[in-house]
Amino acid sequence: TPSPIIAPSILAADFARLAESVHAIEGAADWVHVDVMDNHFVPNLTIGLPVVQSLRKATSIPFDVHLMITDPERWAPGYAEAGAYNVTFHAEATADPVALAKNLRAAGSKAGLAIDRDTDVEPYLDLLPHVDTLLIMTIKAGFGGQKFLPEMLDKVREVRRRIDADSLEVRLEVDGGIAADTIEQASEAGADAFVAGTAVYGAHDPARAIAELRALVEG
Ligand code: DX5
Ligand code: ZN
Repeated sequence: TPSPIIAPSILAADFARLAESVHAIEGAADWVHVDVMDNHFVPNLTIGLPVVQSLRKATSIPFDVHLMITDPERWAPGYAEAGAYNVTFHAEATADPVALAKNLRAAGSKAGLAIDRDTDVEPYLDLLPHVDTLLIMTIKAGFGGQKFLPEMLDKVREVRRRIDADSLEVRLEVDGGIAADTIEQASEAGADAFVAGTAVYGAHDPARAIAELRALVEG
């Protein structure tokens, strides 16, 4: 397993101070996680492409864009063109994840597939060779600050087994309720990329909170 990725979610930051919030984690975090919601795929609304385009110019940290939107075919490549490092769309939102992943790579980003709380991962295991990131939601997508669901770790274990058995280069990411008291179990289940919103931006010192999370998962 490659060294763990810590990706703070700016959903938990102050949206009036987005650039400063990203600067506060530069040097400490590996990626910044950007939650895009459309009040359709999930019952919440956040930011979209113009904000990501502007924020991209304010920092050099890689963007991990998490699209919780319907019709990702229409929107996802725009985020890749805007300079996102990785663009993750939801399995529940597209009929042809392989085609979309291919389009994302052609548009210049890595491609990620996300599995929400109520979706089984088994039907998607054969798609792993076509994506760069597999994101297992450890909450129901839509809001930060929810309680981590340990039963989701069965999915993480299932994906980890396949990644290792087939020697795939896929990042296995978890998102939702990741904090000092949950990150180790997610790591032990096989995750190697960790999104943390509240645990980082709810902390007095976000960079220090990242270092503490990292210390818990670095071998
Ligand atoms: C929720 C988002 C998460 C959220 C996580 O649907 O996908 O990225 O920011 O927030 P915490 O870490 O507070 O659970
Ligand atoms: Zn997210």
